[in-house]
Amino acid sequence: MYTPKTVAVIGAGTIGLSWAALFAAHDLRVRVADPRPDLAEAVRDAIAEFAPQLGRDAAELSARVTLAADVAEAVREADVVQENGPEKLDFKRDLFATLVREAPAHALLLSSSSAIPSTAFTGELADPSRVLIGHPFNPPHIVPLVEVVPGERTSADAVTRAVEFYRSLGRVPVVERKEIPGFVGNRLQSALQREAAYLVEQGVVDPAELDTVVVNSLGLRWAAVGPFLGSHLGGGPGGFRHLATHIGSSMRRLALGEPGNSPEATEQLITAVEKAYGDQPGLAAERDRIQLAILSARGETK
Ligand SMILES: NC(=O)c1ccc[n+]([C@@H]2O[C@H](COP(=O)([O-])OP(=O)(O)OC[C@H]3O[C@@H](n4cnc5c(N)ncnc54)[C@H](O)[C@@H]3O)[C@@H](O)[C@H]2O)c1
Repeated sequence: MYTPKTVAVIGAGTIGLSWAALFAAHDLRVRVADPRPDLAEAVRDAIAEFAPQLGRDAAELSARVTLAADVAEAVREADVVQENGPEKLDFKRDLFATLVREAPAHALLLSSSSAIPSTAFTGELADPSRVLIGHPFNPPHIVPLVEVVPGERTSADAVTRAVEFYRSLGRVPVVERKEIPGFVGNRLQSALQREAAYLVEQGVVDPAELDTVVVNSLGLRWAAVGPFLGSHLGGGPGGFRHLATHIGSSMRRLALGEPGNSPEATEQLITAVEKAYGDQPGLAAERDRIQLAILSARGETK
C-alpha cells in the first residue's frame, strides 16, 4: 500500500486549489507552487470555502499547506506531485522535464491534464516511467472520479501506486487501457455538449431549458447508473438486447447535429449562456451542495 506523506500541487487555479484542500483533509503535507501574485489569498480563500464541504476545520487544513517559492522548492520532498498548470503541450513538456529532475526519484508525477495524454509531453524524457495522467472532474475534492491513464512508457508499479493513492483519498480511480485525447470523461462530455450547442443554435431550446431537460432526466439517472446499465434496465425483461435491437436501432439512425464552429457562432452561444446565468452568485456552491447530497444518498460521503 502506497502511503505518501507530502504532496506537491503545481498550479493553484480551479483544480489545484481543490486538490490542495482534499490532500490536506487527508492529513497530507501539501506544498503549493504557482506564480500567481495572489497565491496566498487564493489558497486561504479556497480552504475556507472547501473545508466545511470536507467536514474539516479550515485552520487545521491551512496548517498543513505551505507555499513554495517555485516548482523546484515545492517538489523537493514530495512523494507525489499533482500538476495542474495550463492545458498547453509546451508548458507540460517543460514542467515535467523539471519535475523529473527536481523531485525525489520515488515521487509519482501525476498530471490533471483534461485532454493531452502524457506520451505527448514526455517523449523527450529519458525515463518517464513514473509520469501518468490523474485526470479529475471539477471540483476534485467533491467529484470522485479520477481517470488514471498511463503513457506508453509508464511503469505498472506507477499505475498501481497512483490507484492506491487516489483510493486512499476516497476517490474512484479508473485505469484506462489506451491513451486517447480527452480520455473517456471529456469525450463523453464533448459528445453531449456538441449536440447541446446544436439544439440551442437551432432555436429548439435555450441554454437554461436544455439544462432543465438534462438535470431532470439523464443527469439524474446517470448519477445512479451509467448509460449501459441504464439501457439494460430500460430494455425491460429483454434488457440491453431488446433495447439495442429495437429502440436502439432507430436511435442509431438519428442524425445528430454539428454546431457552427465560427467565432460568430461561438459568440452567439456565449451570449445565450451568459443571458441565462450571468454572474449570479452562489451557483457553484449550490452545485456542490446537490452533488454532496447525491454522494451522501449513494453512501459515499463520511
Ligand atoms: N477546470 C476544469 O474543469 C478541469 C477539470 C479537470 C482537469 N483540468 C485540467 O487541470 C489543469 C488546470 O486547469 P485549471 O482549470 O485549474 O486552470 P486554471 O487556469 O484555473 O489554473 C492554472 C494555474 O496554473 C498556474 N501556472 C501557470 N504557469 C505556472 C507555472 N510555471 N508553475 C506553476 N503554476 C503555473 C496559473 O497561474 C494558474 O493559477 C489543466 O491541465 C486542465 O486541463 C481542468
